[in-house]
Amino acid sequence: MLKLSLIAFLVLLLTACGAGSGAGLDANGQPAGNAPATPLAADFTSIQQNIFTPVCTVCHSGASAPLGLRLDAANSYAALVGVSSVEVPSTLRVNPGNPASSYLIAKLEGTAAVGGQMPLGGPALSQESIEFVKQWIAAGAPPAVSAPPPVNQPPSVISTNPASGSTVTTLPATINIAFSQEMNAASINNTTVILQRSGGDGNFTSGNEVAITPASLNLSTANPALLTINLTGIASTDDSYQLKLVGTGSAPLLDLNANALDGDGNGSAGGDYLLAFVVQAPPSGGGGLQATWRSIQDNVFTPICIVCHSGASAPEGLRLDEANSYAMLVGVTSQQVPTLLRVSPGNANNSYLIQKLEGAAGITGSQMPRGGTPLPQTTIDIIRQWINAGAEQGTTTPPPPPPGNTAVGVTLSAPTSVASGDELTVSAIVVNNSGDVSGLSSTLGWTPQDSWRLRSGNATQSIATLNAGQTVTLSWTLRAEEVGTTALTVTVTDNNSQTIGSDNANVSIVD
Ligand code: HEC
Ligand code: HEC
Repeated sequence: MLKLSLIAFLVLLLTACGAGSGAGLDANGQPAGNAPATPLAADFTSIQQNIFTPVCTVCHSGASAPLGLRLDAANSYAALVGVSSVEVPSTLRVNPGNPASSYLIAKLEGTAAVGGQMPLGGPALSQESIEFVKQWIAAGAPPAVSAPPPVNQPPSVISTNPASGSTVTTLPATINIAFSQEMNAASINNTTVILQRSGGDGNFTSGNEVAITPASLNLSTANPALLTINLTGIASTDDSYQLKLVGTGSAPLLDLNANALDGDGNGSAGGDYLLAFVVQAPPSGGGGLQATWRSIQDNVFTPICIVCHSGASAPEGLRLDEANSYAMLVGVTSQQVPTLLRVSPGNANNSYLIQKLEGAAGITGSQMPRGGTPLPQTTIDIIRQWINAGAEQGTTTPPPPPPGNTAVGVTLSAPTSVASGDELTVSAIVVNNSGDVSGLSSTLGWTPQDSWRLRSGNATQSIATLNAGQTVTLSWTLRAEEVGTTALTVTVTDNNSQTIGSDNANVSIVD
């Protein structure tokens, strides 16, 4: 059901694009529509115009581009060439000179280890089109300008990755700069390529800036118009960053004709180029994360997962918002792999949640968070700890019972207000946080006594067995009677009539 609607959505998206711009792919998987400015050939301009712009930018553009990969003309080159894939970080998206180890090709041919074939939702590009892309990569993946520039034309910056003005969650391992033409390697050094962060105030003139020395500055030999600034080993600090490419002064960045960089983009040599970006770790940074449901909810589920996993159409019926996550995870069967529980208390390895977060081999669908950066293993390890320790809800369980007894978590759901005379159903989810038990009973009560009338069944319902980690949902149908504020309470008792869990809710009965 969900898969179907997802596919329908993708088809709509593609159709909408095709109808709007006249671009897209024809039945043969060839870019179709208005006559392109240049026929498809093994050069970057042509690949951009015939493939990336018409076919890929429907998804791969803007701030929410999948995996941060923007394929619009202003960003694609620097986001592809020499940049690590997010899905398979050991592979470059485009490895100049080497199509066989370029992740872009694997994604286009449908052989990538992670995720779908591109364009996602199809149709695939024709093999003939892909061959042009391969040829371009084999030739060193040169940038758009192939003809040598006039001797006196100064070099400029065409694109960067990360893009200027962007916010990234961690300091990237590399910053890529694509110049308009081949650069003079001798002019590239720590006085012409200067990286600093603001020192926390977002201001680069206040005197507290922190200089960052890159691990190396590499002008690609296959493509001397591509500069890669290697930041390996530099700790990621949340701050504003500024990269200055120097075009002014006596020793600026130079091209092969000794023209200084046109950094300010005024068409003549000179001026510094400034690339600004912000590093802001997501709240899941792991720092404050503890092995409790409360902390995992606040640091992972709420900030990262509920954008998709909430409301009536939550994928696989899995809501991860505060009110539902515990009851929908712990002891609940996975929709995708029904032989596994989403969270099996005491057994992180057999918890489907962990497999989805780690992208384990046996999962159906994608690694979570879908389409996003996988959680750091340190974060997943803390979730594992919580599960292995019994996956307790902690804060919302009632005071702990005497030692040796069972504790259950009870969550009562009722509306905050209802009209007198109306009927409603209240339900309680009971979660067993400890060992297997039988003979529990669950009783719904209320004050004042004349506020409600039970419509059918009994106030007390028995729960024959409730195994460790299991969940049961009970419900009662009531009619609202006397106007006023009323409190509903669900109490769960064990076979010795000891209370082992309870929850209550206030409901106003109005006219
Ligand atoms: C309908 C939306 C959509 C379209 C169209 C699309 N993509 Fe994607 N792309 C995605 C999503 C979502 C992901 C991440 C999930 C996945 O890989 O399945 C992705 C991932 C990728 C990746 C992996 C990036 C990495 O760092 O690991 C590459 C490469 C890629 N796409 C290239 C392309 C190219 C090239 C095109 C055009 C031929 C294209 N995509 C068209 C949605 C799309
Ligand atoms: C962009 C939307 C999106 C985000 C964000 C997202 N998910 Fe999902 N999730 C899905 C979709 C769609 C499915 C079903 C298809 C699939 O598995 O790829 C799914 C399936 C799942 C399943 C399988 C449920 C079952 O019963 O089999 C789990 C578990 C899951 N997600 C956990 C998470 C967690 C935990 C996070 C946050 C760290 C998260 N998801 C973030 C969209 C998302």
